[in-house]
Amino acid sequence: MASCLKTTWSWRVQSVVFGTAQLLCFSALMTELMNQNEVAAWTYNYSSHAYTWSVSRNFCKRYYTDLVAIQNKNEITYLNDAIPYYQAYYWIGIRKINNTWTWVGTKKALTEEAENWADNEPNNKKNNQDCVEIYIKRSSAPGKWNDEPCGRRKRALCYTASCHDTSCSKQGECVETIGNYSCSCYPGFYGPECEYAITCEPLENLVHGSMECSLSPRAFQYNTNCSFRCAEGFELRGADTVRCADGGQWTAPAPVCQALPCRDLTAPNKAQMSCSHPLGTFKYQSTCRFSCDGGLLLVGASELRCLATGAWSAPSPKCQAITCTPLLSPQNGTMTCVQPLGDSSYKSTCQFTCDEGFSLSGPERLDCTPSGHWTGSPPMCEAIRCPELSAPERGSLHCSDVHGEFNVGSTCQFSCHKGFKLEGANNVKCTASGRWTALPPTCEGIAPAPTAEVRCPALLTPGQGTMSCRHRLGIFGLNTTCYFGCKAGFTLLGDSALRCRPSGRWTAVTPACRAVKCSKLHITEPIRMNCSNPWGNFSYGSSCTFHCPEGQLLNGSVRTACQENGQWSAAMPTCQAGPLTIQEALTYFGGAVASTTGLVMGGTLLALLRKRFRQKDDGKSPLNPQSHLGTYGVFTNAAFDANP
Ligand SMILES: *[C@@H]1O[C@H](CO)[C@@H](O)[C@H](O)[C@H]1NC(C)=O
Ligand SMILES: *[C@@H]1O[C@H](CO)[C@@H](O)[C@H](O)[C@H]1NC(C)=O
Ligand SMILES: *[C@@H]1O[C@H](CO)[C@@H](O)[C@H](O)[C@H]1NC(C)=O
Ligand SMILES: *[C@@H]1O[C@H](CO)[C@@H](O)[C@H](O)[C@H]1NC(C)=O
Ligand SMILES: *[C@@H]1O[C@H](CO)[C@@H](O)[C@H](O)[C@H]1NC(C)=O
Ligand SMILES: *[C@@H]1O[C@H](CO)[C@@H](O)[C@H](O)[C@H]1NC(C)=O
Repeated sequence: MASCLKTTWSWRVQSVVFGTAQLLCFSALMTELMNQNEVAAWTYNYSSHAYTWSVSRNFCKRYYTDLVAIQNKNEITYLNDAIPYYQAYYWIGIRKINNTWTWVGTKKALTEEAENWADNEPNNKKNNQDCVEIYIKRSSAPGKWNDEPCGRRKRALCYTASCHDTSCSKQGECVETIGNYSCSCYPGFYGPECEYAITCEPLENLVHGSMECSLSPRAFQYNTNCSFRCAEGFELRGADTVRCADGGQWTAPAPVCQALPCRDLTAPNKAQMSCSHPLGTFKYQSTCRFSCDGGLLLVGASELRCLATGAWSAPSPKCQAITCTPLLSPQNGTMTCVQPLGDSSYKSTCQFTCDEGFSLSGPERLDCTPSGHWTGSPPMCEAIRCPELSAPERGSLHCSDVHGEFNVGSTCQFSCHKGFKLEGANNVKCTASGRWTALPPTCEGIAPAPTAEVRCPALLTPGQGTMSCRHRLGIFGLNTTCYFGCKAGFTLLGDSALRCRPSGRWTAVTPACRAVKCSKLHITEPIRMNCSNPWGNFSYGSSCTFHCPEGQLLNGSVRTACQENGQWSAAMPTCQAGPLTIQEALTYFGGAVASTTGLVMGGTLLALLRKRFRQKDDGKSPLNPQSHLGTYGVFTNAAFDANP
């Protein structure tokens, strides 16, 4: 059995001042076997036999708790009343250890106040009186103590502890009383067995934060510590830790999490600001949008957010006026501007047009950009030009210009040398369309020359062309008219008909025939091209052949020619890497076009057949170029000749 001291639960073991009601570690006498002279309801027992002090203690410890240890007046009175008289009296749990009277149960020295010695005791008569007896029912000094040699035989006065390890719900101090115990509850617990815990009002988790409470058997009971934290962007207002005090009250009210404030914002000059404050004015998560008054450009972020750090996501923006350098109307032109935000301000748009006879050189429209620059340089109006004129043969030219030589507005007068007459308009003007009002005139001789004498230079048929002449008044004489044409693939360059004029000159120079042009061929690597150009590069008659590098196969036609209609006879081929399929091989060698299966079959059959023919007639009889084997496709002799 556990001793008073060794019990795990805590109970108050102390020397008790006489007169207090508290008793600890009681013992009781009992009769050892039969003589169970137990005292009703009290837990004192005593032995029926007498033993030495040590054997007595062992007896008590074996059957009960220990020798009676602590007493007060009430207990002494009770024991003296309840325990029967025995001539050798009873051992109790006090012994002289190291020359000090000690409670053996607690190993604490006996205090002066707790002493209950009989008069003139302890006397230590024979110098070995180290143990203590109690005079139960002695005629003199009943209940008092006396020191005795430990080897003497006396009855053991034992007690049984009432406290056990689950007493007081382990939530209080178990205090032995006579026959029972009482509970002295630890702070925060109450009830006869300390079975009730003081609890505080339950705490709710924080909005925008969290709570962490120390583990307790019961939620929010005495001494529970709850600590609080706020989410990012929030700060704790109040105590960060509270404890459930023994009064059932929290040591402080629960805190709250408040959104962190950012500094107050005001709308920048000439700007509007609109804010939303989900968690309070200019607090974490507040957002403010900015817009500028008309014509002003927002420089900076258009929206600011109050961050979890308590700072705004960006500095406040500014509203700035944007102007471009003022523009001038071009000379001989006009400028029309739309300027919604003021002269030459951002968003201004200017359109340019030129006066008649002038054309715009430069952009038709300029915009003032947010950077304060126009989208380009201002355009200019340039006078429209007519073709240059020269003085007619046997005549002269005199021009007066308004906007430069042969420019719009220029007027030119023609005159002929003496003896010659102007044929055609005698003055022309350069119009806004860039054309002269009339063709330049010629100067013809005034005395009509004998028509028969008029001779124009003989004309030759142009290369690749035709000429047919009607000679009215002699070969290449006056009014002889020659008509020109070109062979297929050529086009005529110049007048198609010339007439011999009285001046002995043709109305125009002899025309020429020029080869029709086909589109220029552009080769792509690795193909190679080789062209012959009899009539000029990529012109009618040009013929080009194509080659692929070794190991690559030409996919398409090897040759193409520029046709009379200006189209190439075949498309550009491509080069293809990799081995030839049967179909490709056949196509390559013979130009056969067929379905794969047909080809394979036909190819095999034809090869066999050819063998036969060769045996029959030396292989010299040509095959019908058209397959007559009932197979798909068409085969030419080339397919065989290429593979002897
Ligand atoms: C005395 O001892 C007996 C036998 O062990 C036991 O039954 C009895 O309860 C004890 N008396 C008291 C008062 O505890
Ligand atoms: C007795 O007391 C002395 C000194 O006070 C100490 O050194 C010694 O350990 C003690 N012996 C016992 C058995 O308590
Ligand atoms: C002993 O004490 C406990 C705690 O005070 C109490 O609950 C119990 O009823 C008592 N027993 C008796 C028999 O008085
Ligand atoms: C609560 O905190 C107090 C003071 O720091 C401490 O004494 C107590 O043991 C704590 N309670 C728990 C259940 O940890
Ligand atoms: C073109 O501008 C020049 C210089 O301003 C001016 O003298 C002239 O009359 C203008 N011409 C026309 C056709 O407006
Ligand atoms: C030559 O042709 C012109 C115009 O066709 C004609 O006016 C003139 O009379 C002709 N001259 C002769 C001599 O036929």
